Formats: sequence, structure tokens, C-alpha cells
Amino acid sequence: MVSKGAAMGSASAKEGWSSRGAFILAAVGAAVGLGNIWRFPALAGESGGGAFVLVYIAFVALLGLPLVLAEITIGRIGQTDAVGSIKEVAKRSQASGGWSAFGGIGAIAAFLILSFYSVVAGWVLYYASVMGGELVAAIGRGDPLGGAFAGESVDQIQSRMGDLFGNPWLLLGMHAGFMGVTWFIVSRGVHAGIEKAATYLMPAFFVLLIGITIYGAFEGNFSEATAFLFTADFSKLTPQVINAALGQALFSLSLGVAGLITYGSYIRRSGGLGGTSATIALADTMVAMVAGLMIFPIVFAAGLDPAGGPTLVFQALPVAFQAMPGGALIGFLFFLLIFVAALTSSISLLEVPTAYGKGEMRWTRFVSASIFALGAFILGIASLLGYNVWAGVSPLGFWSIFEGLDILDTIDGFTGRVMLPLGVMLLSIFIGWKADAKMLQASTGLSNTTFRLWRFLVAWVCPIAVGLVLLFGLFPGLLG
Ligand code: PHE
Repeated sequence: MVSKGAAMGSASAKEGWSSRGAFILAAVGAAVGLGNIWRFPALAGESGGGAFVLVYIAFVALLGLPLVLAEITIGRIGQTDAVGSIKEVAKRSQASGGWSAFGGIGAIAAFLILSFYSVVAGWVLYYASVMGGELVAAIGRGDPLGGAFAGESVDQIQSRMGDLFGNPWLLLGMHAGFMGVTWFIVSRGVHAGIEKAATYLMPAFFVLLIGITIYGAFEGNFSEATAFLFTADFSKLTPQVINAALGQALFSLSLGVAGLITYGSYIRRSGGLGGTSATIALADTMVAMVAGLMIFPIVFAAGLDPAGGPTLVFQALPVAFQAMPGGALIGFLFFLLIFVAALTSSISLLEVPTAYGKGEMRWTRFVSASIFALGAFILGIASLLGYNVWAGVSPLGFWSIFEGLDILDTIDGFTGRVMLPLGVMLLSIFIGWKADAKMLQASTGLSNTTFRLWRFLVAWVCPIAVGLVLLFGLFPGLLG
């Protein structure tokens, strides 16, 4: 029996991007997110700056870019959700359909990431509204270009984060709001929802990013920031830092969660995928670098600690927005920028399981998006309770690398350090060794030499590098 949804077209009619440009915008939107603006600067700051940045760039070039192309190619050949697409590529290559397992791992990872991603995006939403209030107050004082938090002490400003974290209801409300918007857009479909959101949000994002960076170049300490980000101190390169750089490269490019397989499946037209993949990888990396150049001049100008880690953006920067000219306005725009970036990424995170539900379970888009958004919302509640009611709970605390981590950091760590590398490893073995070379070359549109280089990187460099990093990352004891 054909279900009503299928008859109406939501499960059977093919969805797709209206143009190559729309795909690139949506894929860049998926890649550019909290990973670039919140995590990359925090990690670079904690890991000593330049050396980390160099390793990161090497991982993007040697592993990230080839794998972006690999995922998009699978999607374009398969023309359906990640699991179905991998099965299709396997079938045409006379390989086992069991390889589709990494599509399943990816969809689960996307779901898990979405659960805490929305919680963190909720903090952003909260800070955007606080800064919005500060801007309104500054305008009320007749000083629209004034600083935020007039008359408050540094302690008062910084205590906002603790107050937020201590308030489960406030966290819940923000989490619900963000997940609700994500769900709304995804349930509207590829064209009317995802593509439309990207076409509005991405240009706004770039305008804000460039604007705030120029502001920082004039008002902040730009030279100290560039020295910090681009001078490499190799004594800081521990295996942990290398591991973190790989994890960050995968996360930032949205690899290993089948997101690009899913987005690639909505490409209708023919045409090479090499340039498209390079554009996506390059844009994502540039945004991470520019985000560093946006944040650190402000951090250094205010005399803040670059190694502040995850609290850098939420606790340190608001202090800077008090003293700097135009601080209230810039602060508001800054959190708006992160919000926009997070939204286009969370959309892609929800789209992966949603497409799976449509393709494999034959649910309608609406039902599928609703089930997974609700599920991730409920799971996310555990993460946010980890800051208050369940403080001290460390779900994987028995495993040395997750010892002492709260619920959110545990899910983040488990997906980033275990699931993504595992998914990427299987992806590279599948594309590097199992998939039919002729079919791959035809679909990627690469020339003979580039194709050989690509396949070599995917077949050898990716599995070996990811395998090593996985091994030492998970069992740090191996290094003595
Ligand atoms: N790449 C996104 C970021 O940098 C996160 C993400 C991971 C999005 C996986 C989709 C899939 O924030």
C-alpha cells in the first residue's frame, strides 16, 4: 500500500538543489558552524596557536578535501539517503552492501551531535539576546556606539555564564527555541527549507564575519593575534594536539556523519565535483582562520587569556565588549553571526537522519524530521542538566580519556574521537579499495592524474593517518 505521504510525494518525489551554487552555499553552510567560530579558536588557543593551525591545515588538505569529494560522490551516485546511497555504490561495484554501516554510524553520530549542538547554540541564542538588550540600553542612553554592560564589574559580566549554566529552565528554553527553528526549516524540505535558509543566511554570515574582523583589525590587537595564530612553536605538538587537530578537521568539514553524502544526493546535474569540493573545503578553512583573526585581536586588546578554551567566546569576549568602542553593537552582531553559522549546520545535522527515515523507513519528511528533532531535543536535555542538576555525572568516566567529562563533553568527545574517525576510516577504505574506479572517475570528473592522486590519498593516507590518530588518541597509554 502506498502511504498517503508517499502518494503526496514526500517520500517518492525526488528533492534537489536548484543549482550548483545553491548546493555549494548549503554545503558551506553545513561546514561552517560552531566548529569554526567557537571550537577552532578555542582549540588553537589552548594548543599554542600556530603549530596547531599548521597541522590542522595539513589534515584538511591531505585528508579533508579528498574525503569531502568522496562523500559528495557517493551521494551523487546513490541519489538517496546515506545508507541507501552507499548500498547503491556498493552494488554497482560488486561490493558488499554491509559497507552501508558507515552511513548508519554517520546518521547516529549526526543525531548525537545535534543533541548537544543545539544546547551550545542555545547559549549563543541567550547571549545574542543579552547583547541585544545591551544594545537597546546603549541606544536608550543616547550612546548607540557605547560599550555593553555599563557600570558592571568584570566578575559581574563573567558570572552571566555561570548563572545561565545554573538555570536548567533557561537552558531548556534556548535549546527548545533553537531546535524548533532547525526542525521548522528541515521539515519544509530541501528546496523550500534548506536551500532557502542558506541563500539568506550565508551572505548575511559573510557580511558579519568580514565586518567584525575589520573592526577588530582597527580596534583590537591585530599584530599580536596574527603572531599567535601563525607562528609555530613545534614543542607544543603533542600527540593529543595532533589528535585534536584531526578531530577538529573532520568535525569542521562535517565529515564522517554522512552529511555530505546526504547533501550530495540532492545534486541533480552532471558536472565535475573536484572544484566544488575544493570550494567547500577552502571556504570552511578560510572561515576558521578569519574567525581566529576576528576573535584574537579582541582577546589580546582586552588583555584576556587566549587559552581560555570553551569559555573564550562566552566568558572572555563579553568583557571585551564592555571596554571597546561600539562594544554593545559588535557584541550583538557577533553572537548573531555565531547563531547564523550554527543554524545552517544544525540543519544539515538533522537532515542526515531525516533523509534516512525517508529513504529507509519510508516515513514522510515531516514525520521523520519531527521524530529525530524531538529525539535529539530530549537527549540534549541530559547534556544541559549536566551543568546543574546532574553536575558531576561523567557517563563514560570509567574510560580514561573521558574521565571527569560532563555529559555534553562526553557526547562531544565520543562522537568526535570515536565515531567520526571510525566512519571516515570505513569511508576511505570503501572508496579507496572497494568502489569501482571507472564509476568514481566518471562521477568525480577528475582528470587521470588528479584521480590517481585522489584515490591514493583516500586509499592510503586517510586510513593510515586516521588509524594512527585513533589508536593513540583512544589509548594514550601506548605512548608511555
Ligand atoms: N561542521 C559543523 C561545524 O563546524 C558541525 C557539523 C558536523 C555539521 C557534522 C554537520 C555535520 O560546526
